[in-house]
Amino acid sequence: MVIKNIDVATVAKKFLVRGYNINPKAAELICSFGEFYEEIISEVCKMADGKFIIGEEDVKAVVEKIKARKSVKPEVREVKKEKSEKKENNGLRVIRDITGISVCEGKVEDFVCYFNSRLEKLSRILRTRMHPVPIAYVGKRKMEKVSVVGMVTNVWERGDRYVVQLEDSTGSLNCVASGKTAEIASELLGDEVVGVTGTLRGNTLIADRIVFPDVPVNGNGEKTKRDFSIIFISDTHFGSKEFLEKEWKLFVKWLNGEVGGEKGQKLAESVKYIVIAGDIVDGIGVYPEQEKDLAIMDIYGQYESAAAHIDDIPKRIRVVISPGNHDAVRQAEPQPALPSEIRKLFSNNVYHVGNPAYIEIEGIKVLIYHGRSIDDMVAKIPRLSYEEPQKVMEELLKRRHLSPMYGGRSPVAPEKEDYLVIDEVPDILHCGHIHTYGTGFYRGVFMVNSSTWQAQTEFQKKVNLNPMPGNVAVYRPGGEVVRLRFYGE
Ligand SMILES: [Fe+2]
Repeated sequence: MVIKNIDVATVAKKFLVRGYNINPKAAELICSFGEFYEEIISEVCKMADGKFIIGEEDVKAVVEKIKARKSVKPEVREVKKEKSEKKENNGLRVIRDITGISVCEGKVEDFVCYFNSRLEKLSRILRTRMHPVPIAYVGKRKMEKVSVVGMVTNVWERGDRYVVQLEDSTGSLNCVASGKTAEIASELLGDEVVGVTGTLRGNTLIADRIVFPDVPVNGNGEKTKRDFSIIFISDTHFGSKEFLEKEWKLFVKWLNGEVGGEKGQKLAESVKYIVIAGDIVDGIGVYPEQEKDLAIMDIYGQYESAAAHIDDIPKRIRVVISPGNHDAVRQAEPQPALPSEIRKLFSNNVYHVGNPAYIEIEGIKVLIYHGRSIDDMVAKIPRLSYEEPQKVMEELLKRRHLSPMYGGRSPVAPEKEDYLVIDEVPDILHCGHIHTYGTGFYRGVFMVNSSTWQAQTEFQKKVNLNPMPGNVAVYRPGGEVVRLRFYGE
């Protein structure tokens, strides 16, 4: 959003509502940063520490801090191969990916930065849809409608109502929700960021409306028909005893135009890209007694098998690989791409990115996320299920966060910036992890959870996980999605 003609008076007012005065020269300095003024004001207030008048030096210090932080942000980079650098970008571009830029040390300060980043990023999105005041200022707006934005720190039932505790950088506030709003409140997750509009009664905000950051109604989504297809798969689990060798070979035959009839061949020929959203191999020691389920006991051997199977895919197709929780990278998200000693096993048509990764395929924005947080979402929200993964993915888009609930089953690394926020609305959100299949559109965004190539393991039988293996989503830009089944047909 570009802000035009931001003036000293507006800046001064913004400080006044936060309880600060600002020296005119300092206000002028903020104006000179144009569209970044909101970010600077918010940081200055955080650092003001009881000061009554904000001076030029305070603003300069904040600007330096923001500059330093932005310098560790990933730059847009072309996808590169290590074995043979390709001059052309082959239609693939990485927009955002943690690989090679993680600065997380896991210190307490890192967690503070991480949650500040989450609050700031999601508040920014919410501010495009409402006009919140800082929580500390709500008391001055008794008897009138007021909106706040904050991080959910607690939610509890009180009779037929729900109380939502919200926190921003200025304070915390209890919001009481009843009726339809209570239904929404009952599904709020700890540490997600929402907006609430209501009226203050005593020290409590009586909520009329709970607002999610959400994606715009008209959404994104590639609307123009194109002459190529993208295939979405995940959870190949090479190295597992239950890896579906026969079905994978059939899939490769189909890609090579050897099966599927004339129509199938035409579709196969149109495939230019395959995206694999994690769990490339089964891994070692991922769950108790996993060794009983393994055909290949050595992690390197598992990746050799993965590379050999992926090598059977026709070389005209570019394959993008993102890791998952079974792969040989750190468990906490965001995860970097597979290490170089493993990457070099794969052919030149294979490109490696982290998890999550925001990539562009011939202009189509694809957000790849393995999907570990789906476990937390299904556990927390009773109406969601593994059988309909697209409904869970819709909730991630609504919350504009890939892992909205902190402290559940999905570990998150406290990077200085929250890379799991869905800053930019993708055309496609691609997940895996739960081994079921589901596709759908939410506000124009195509969502796909792309099955698995592993039959049900003994462990999955014990935890009652019923996979839907061998399903392949073929996405034809412009909206058409073809589901192919290579298992049980
Ligand atoms: Fe998996």
